[in-house]
Amino acid sequence: MASRPRSTEPYQAVAWHDGRLRLLDQTRLPGALVYLEINTLAAATEAITSMRVCGAPAIGIAAAYALALVAQHDRSNNPAALIDALHTASRTLAATRPTAVNLRWALDRVLACAERAAHTDGVEAARSAALAEARAIQAEQIAADARMAQAGAALIAPGSTLLTHCNAGPLATTSAGTALGAVIPAHRARRVIEVLVNETRPRLQGARLTAWELGWHGAPYRVIADSAAASLMAAGLVSAVVVGADRIAVNGDTANKIDTYALAALARFHALPLYVVAPLSTIDAGTPSGAAIPIEQRDATELLVLAGITLTPPGARALNPAFDITPVALITAIVTERGVLRPPYAASIAEAPAPAPAAR
Ligand code: MRU
Repeated sequence: MASRPRSTEPYQAVAWHDGRLRLLDQTRLPGALVYLEINTLAAATEAITSMRVCGAPAIGIAAAYALALVAQHDRSNNPAALIDALHTASRTLAATRPTAVNLRWALDRVLACAERAAHTDGVEAARSAALAEARAIQAEQIAADARMAQAGAALIAPGSTLLTHCNAGPLATTSAGTALGAVIPAHRARRVIEVLVNETRPRLQGARLTAWELGWHGAPYRVIADSAAASLMAAGLVSAVVVGADRIAVNGDTANKIDTYALAALARFHALPLYVVAPLSTIDAGTPSGAAIPIEQRDATELLVLAGITLTPPGARALNPAFDITPVALITAIVTERGVLRPPYAASIAEAPAPAPAAR
């Protein structure tokens, strides 16, 4: 069983600090707590693309602040020119991680606020409105996390061993987290025996980030190879699977880190519940089903090279989809800040007050 690491220093994945975007560089974890001070669109774009910030809500918040940064640095006195610059920057940022819908959703919110302010009160008002909206998005996420934690923890029965995949902790939302947001209070209430952490190839978010976050909170965990889930379930060592989401279609089909679909199918085969924990901003009113969710394809080197060592023969190629779609039929419940959604999801999602669809 893992022990608590020596560092209990509080950490913050994303913040607006001194007129800049501050990111905790997740690629350096768990070895080092390194904060990046980001002052340009290019640096923000690189940080999101390179996964220095991970997790759909955290990516959205980082991008919102990046747009606020662009607004602050734009020197034009003309509202139309400022709005043009924001649209261009928004397109650049939106292209970085196409599956995580919170990114597009957050950018659209900042753009809409800046546009309204520019038309009514001019460029300075638009600059302030962009930053105020980015701050509001983060504040709403903090509040949503607290409500999801309460609703999600209530689903976890005493004596549970939970299996989780990728990272859905505080780093992924900038506050309590989604899946881990529910697991940690259940651990504090002594209902969790252990968390089994899928290592999450190829970027190892489970082994690097989830393990670090659970250790930080003193929650007992063991890292497992992604391929161990089936036999551990068959041996009766898993009570439930708890994951986050990067985009949920209005029929409930859910995009999350590659391998979530396999876990969901395994959970169903072994009659185990699969809980998805996600804020309403992850439900995309503009996406009818999983078939319409774009799957981010990442560079082959993520699979072919590990910690700087090439694993494969010269000329080896790789296929590296970053996410997959879990069909709605495999999902036991979706925990949101407005309560627990149950099947039939087309109805329960339609009744949930989902945010407006992102503009296409
Ligand atoms: O590619 P990543 O690391 O950004 O993917 C993260 C995930 O898939 C998380 O499970 C998801 O964003 C939910 S986290 C709140």
